[in-house]
Amino acid sequence: MENVIDVIASAHPVPAEPWQIRETAPLGPRAFLHETLFALGNGYIGLRGTHEEGGAAGLEGSYLNGFHETESIHYPENAYGLARTNEFMLNVPNAKCIALTVEGERFGFDAGKLLAYERRLDFRKGVLERTVEWESPRGHRVRIDSRRLVCFGRKHVAAIEYRVTALNFAGRVEVASRIDSEVSNLQAGDDPRVGSAVTGPALSVVGREQDADGELLLQRTRNSGFLLATGVRHAASGATGAGPGEGAHVVKARLREGESLTLHKFIAYASSRDAADADVARLARDELARAAQDGFAHLVAEQGVYLERFWREADVAIAGDDALQQGVRFNQYHLLQSVGRDGRTNIAAKGVTGEGYEGHYFWDTEIYVFPFFLFSRPEIARALLQYRYNGLPKARERARQMSHASGALYPWRTIAGEECSAYYPAGTAQYHINADVAYSIRLYLLATGDFDFIADYGAEIVLETARIWTGIGGYDREGRFCINEVTGPDEYTALVNNNYYTNAMARMHMSFAADMGERLRAERPQDYARVAAAIGLEEGEIAGWRAASGAMRLPYDAALGIHEQDDSFLSKKPWDFANTPKDKYPLLLHYHPLVIYRHQVCKQADVVLALLLLSDEFTLDDKRRDFDFYEGVTTHDSSLSSCIFSMIASEVGYADKAYHYFMETARLDLDNTHANTEYGVHTAAMAGTWLGVAYGFGGMRLTGSGLRFAPTLPAKWTSYRFQVHVQGALLAVTVDAKGVHYRLADGESLAFTHHGTPVALTGSNPDIRMEAA
Ligand code: BGC
Repeated sequence: MENVIDVIASAHPVPAEPWQIRETAPLGPRAFLHETLFALGNGYIGLRGTHEEGGAAGLEGSYLNGFHETESIHYPENAYGLARTNEFMLNVPNAKCIALTVEGERFGFDAGKLLAYERRLDFRKGVLERTVEWESPRGHRVRIDSRRLVCFGRKHVAAIEYRVTALNFAGRVEVASRIDSEVSNLQAGDDPRVGSAVTGPALSVVGREQDADGELLLQRTRNSGFLLATGVRHAASGATGAGPGEGAHVVKARLREGESLTLHKFIAYASSRDAADADVARLARDELARAAQDGFAHLVAEQGVYLERFWREADVAIAGDDALQQGVRFNQYHLLQSVGRDGRTNIAAKGVTGEGYEGHYFWDTEIYVFPFFLFSRPEIARALLQYRYNGLPKARERARQMSHASGALYPWRTIAGEECSAYYPAGTAQYHINADVAYSIRLYLLATGDFDFIADYGAEIVLETARIWTGIGGYDREGRFCINEVTGPDEYTALVNNNYYTNAMARMHMSFAADMGERLRAERPQDYARVAAAIGLEEGEIAGWRAASGAMRLPYDAALGIHEQDDSFLSKKPWDFANTPKDKYPLLLHYHPLVIYRHQVCKQADVVLALLLLSDEFTLDDKRRDFDFYEGVTTHDSSLSSCIFSMIASEVGYADKAYHYFMETARLDLDNTHANTEYGVHTAAMAGTWLGVAYGFGGMRLTGSGLRFAPTLPAKWTSYRFQVHVQGALLAVTVDAKGVHYRLADGESLAFTHHGTPVALTGSNPDIRMEAA
């Protein structure tokens, strides 16, 4: 059977336009996918793209990044140390609700006649705009112009403008605005990627304040004990009366033909994750008052200014392919909407657009999303690292539960630091999360040179987490350091010995930890003493890391000339791809895990990812052979896979494949190619799109040996341009048929190589054009 969502997407495609997404018909019960695509967010608040008037097709969802409920995880068959508590992002009250009545007739897409409709989200404005012309069953025509935004510059605030114009009559128009608190999360079903095991209403009302302009609802979560304030405040023009009535704030007008009634609705959410219990209501009230005083137009202008800076520094421009250009910008835009930036929140696999993966944060952050922000908005990347620093105490606790006498083990999936992975073979066993975090700190240092951050926070994370490797690993009879019983990134292979990716990343991690320890001791003895005392670092640990990384076992098959994914991978039976029908993908929904684990089959890039992250450790021939082999056994059932294959394909000169895999990633959500975007966007793939341009076609690498580029131009494009914040500079790289233009857009100097040729730009010599070979 064809996927219903695919049918909808192809029946009502979003037109390919470079700066916006647009919808030309309300999709009624088939709008589930578009409710995700048109979602708004600011890294904290997330509002799905449902209509003010209700009638969600799939899911009426409002979320606050980091605001969660907890539930005990029950295992019919228990074992020691399994994750005990799930944290999941809560669906919070829907504050968008507005009902319109025209001469006593209720507006809805299911009644009367729709004369015109359009909805658009322009990535430069950050405002969801909708125009509707409607004729009521009794023939009254109105135009409804509504605009909605979630303010990038005001964490707690969203706002709506709702304007109704009488087109062919004089009469009564009434707009009723309210907060709907009867919301709930999706229940877990057969797809492990969707829903949570919530067992009842998670929020109960503990207070309600109402005045002439609005209301404030106070609720408390049942288990996690958090307090939540949801507030709204109204301002109207063209009204003859306004005030509370029947559970709503009602605004009435008697319009003449051509006249309008406008309602501005300001919305604020605040919780005890942001303020002390006693201050939560006040925080929401203050934010509302400030927003109302500044006014809707001011909020729109502020939004434009915020986005102008973002695009000026981060825009990726592709000439010659509008659909792709749209995909790339849509992805960048959604990343900005999804990422927490307060140091206490992170970015969920689905951002704040849906409930897939329950609002959990994964390694997706460090390996995919982090580099995007590092090179586009370094201060946001720093906040993501700060989040990991704040998670150290919980990671220490988890390490003790896992019987590690010292060190810290980050949770595979979490919100507030608790390990929430109930299926440990593809969860807790992914110890590589520790090395992924260390990798991001190393990249941060390479890109910013900010050693203060290392001294204050980074070193403690890197050293404390490095200890886990000497804790779980050991030397075999040949003196090789082995790490057994772990799962690498590829979730179709679990609980193996010496997963290549894990070992190679652990090696990087331990030697980085040793470097940082020694540098700190030499350059900042006081900081070193503080960190060493905080983690109880013992004599000889640094030497132990050096020894283990020097002796690390890295599986290699000499006959095939490839790096083996783990000790057992090549001895497994190859998966019978030829006889696997299309509708059996993703395999995880059709085969027991053991069936999958017994075969040579990968869900996603594993060794191939190591080729990218540890680029200098491989020759080009190594990369080509590994790519050829793993391409043949990988299903790309994970949305994290294609972009990595695209980047390595670029590097080894497979231009067509690079383009093909890039296309798979860049429009993954817009085209719903994984058939689950209705439950939320795929933030890792979105960031993988940016990486696909910079690291892939741009050939960028930042390693211990410096910054380099090796741009190529895909045949279908006439040119492309990307920008990177690096080492205090902002560099714009433009590639076209004539060659590559490097321009120092900001900063004093920058040195790098272009296809191996050294280049140095300075303030007085800010750009250079390298002719195409
Ligand atoms: C992937 C993981 C990823 C998770 C969340 C899974 O399907 O296999 O690598 O972390 O999704 O995006």
